[in-house]
Amino acid sequence: MADVASCAAIEDAALARLRRQMGLGASPPGPTADTIGHLLRTDPTCSTVATDAAGAVCGFSQAARRDSLWLLAHLFIDPDLQSRGVGRALLGAALAASDGAEARMICATADPRAIRLYAQIAGMVAHPSLTATGPVRTEHLVPPPAVRPGDGGDLRFVEHLTTQLRGGPCGADLTYLRGDDGRLLVYPERGYAVAGPAGPRRLAATDDEAAADLLVACLAGVTPGETARIPRFTGAHQWALHVAVAAGLEVRPWGPLLASGSSAATGAYLPHPALC
Ligand SMILES: CC(C)(COP(=O)(O)OP(=O)(O)OC[C@H]1O[C@@H](n2cnc3c(N)ncnc32)[C@H](O)[C@@H]1OP(=O)(O)O)[C@@H](O)C(=O)NCCC(=O)NCCS
Repeated sequence: MADVASCAAIEDAALARLRRQMGLGASPPGPTADTIGHLLRTDPTCSTVATDAAGAVCGFSQAARRDSLWLLAHLFIDPDLQSRGVGRALLGAALAASDGAEARMICATADPRAIRLYAQIAGMVAHPSLTATGPVRTEHLVPPPAVRPGDGGDLRFVEHLTTQLRGGPCGADLTYLRGDDGRLLVYPERGYAVAGPAGPRRLAATDDEAAADLLVACLAGVTPGETARIPRFTGAHQWALHVAVAAGLEVRPWGPLLASGSSAATGAYLPHPALC
């Protein structure tokens, strides 16, 4: 879609403005356009753009369906055109794909307008969350012996656990999350994580102890010189807070994880910021 570059620019500008308003520094560049393109391929009917009077893209939303799970991946408005009802209209378009869904998830930013919009979706429960970033003090992390590299033989388990915890499978997202530089890590029968050069992209486990070990393995493998990031964890994820602190990361409040019909916010699960 020719709009991908415009949408990626809007997302980057909207997030940069929000972070400035919150007194936060710039976030490291992410794979914004890649994720938008991935969702266009997997969920071609769940992407909507808004255009301004001149016909230029000024906002977009992207939702996804993973069987009976609906998730909102993106909702971003050009900073110069915010607070004029465009976000509400685009959320309405994204919600059209939620018919019949038994579970819903949104990883919200800390923008009060986003929280206001999502809190009005029937059944949504908001779980306040924290985020952690910074250089990893690897000397404080002992790679857990039980965690091993995953392979094709683990994929059934990965899908089963993901569905159990968040209400829908990974589907095509797993290949996308692994990409060229991601590693699948498995704690046999107890959990998995997809780790990138900056830390966990998604993590799921049957219990807190296995989840903590998987998170340690993700952080111990962070590429030297990279700023590590645990995108989001809730009050139910004290194990993640303890690992983040032990790793020397800076922990701050961030937007809530909103969910209905999903145990992701209370189970041993760390969502991807867009693909949940
Ligand atoms: C969050 C965002 C998508 C909302 O879109 P928007 O077009 O700016 O917002 P809308 O005009 O549709 O307003 C949304 C709600 O916030 C309210 N609102 C508008 N301006 C507001 C303000 N300055 N403070 C508080 N609430 C405000 C509106 O009244 C509306 O609620 P209501 O319909 O119940 O009355 C947009 O502001 C944005 O891109 N923010 C930065 C990026 C971001 O955080 N995206 C969310 C990703 S999860």
